[in-house]
Amino acid sequence: GLLDGGPKPLAGKTAVVTSGPTHEPIDPVRYIANRSSGRQGHAIAAALARLGADVTLVSGPVTIPDPAGVETVHVERAEEMLEAVVSRLPVDIAVMVAAVADWRVAASAGQKIKKQPGEAPPPLVLAENPDILKTVGHHRKRPKLVVGFAAETQDVEKNGRAKLERKGADMIVANDVSPETGIMGGTRNRVKIISAKGVEEWPDLGKEEVADRLAGLVANRLAGT
Ligand code: CTP
Ligand code: CA
Repeated sequence: GLLDGGPKPLAGKTAVVTSGPTHEPIDPVRYIANRSSGRQGHAIAAALARLGADVTLVSGPVTIPDPAGVETVHVERAEEMLEAVVSRLPVDIAVMVAAVADWRVAASAGQKIKKQPGEAPPPLVLAENPDILKTVGHHRKRPKLVVGFAAETQDVEKNGRAKLERKGADMIVANDVSPETGIMGGTRNRVKIISAKGVEEWPDLGKEEVADRLAGLVANRLAGT
């Protein structure tokens, strides 16, 4: 159709993209989570597919629809997201956009926790979740191109560089998610692309435009330009 008419520099390439938050259960009715609409990750999955890539989107719980032209796998917890991503390897491209909860509840309750009159609230004991980006970045089946995000409220570039290094990524898309930027939950994004080549600052763009530019950059990097 008309919409599929553009160039296909990613034809024959495979990609896995994570998007949305993860939900970590406290008990059957309660959870802890990060804020994330899934808009940026879903847009990136769709943009890679438009350039011809065979894309699997691993999405946490979101309210937006599955993107067209992409195989979407729905998960809830970080451990499930890791398992879904690793089961897709080897792929050419990994773009980890999900706002993964850094901690899960160490022993989530099988039954709803009831308030106990006159007693203190129950303590929430947390355990660290696996780092999906870091696992993929250091995997023996490591994708040719590993892209991560860095959501920061301060020192965006410094923190983004540290994440590039620590997680074994080729590129970090860093953004300032301070409440005053209005980025969280919104439709626009202002990012810096951090890689071994240096830092590229992009203007304030719609999340769809960020996705298209990033997909183009991914195609160029894979082509070695
Ligand atoms: N990420 C991941 N798995 C995790 C945590 C983060 O895959 N358990 C990925 C995110 O999808 C993102 C990148 O790592 O691509 C950075 O996430 P971010 O939350 O900014 O970094 P953290 O390493 O968790 O550090 P912190 O939250 O302490 O800033
Ligand atoms: Ca985090």
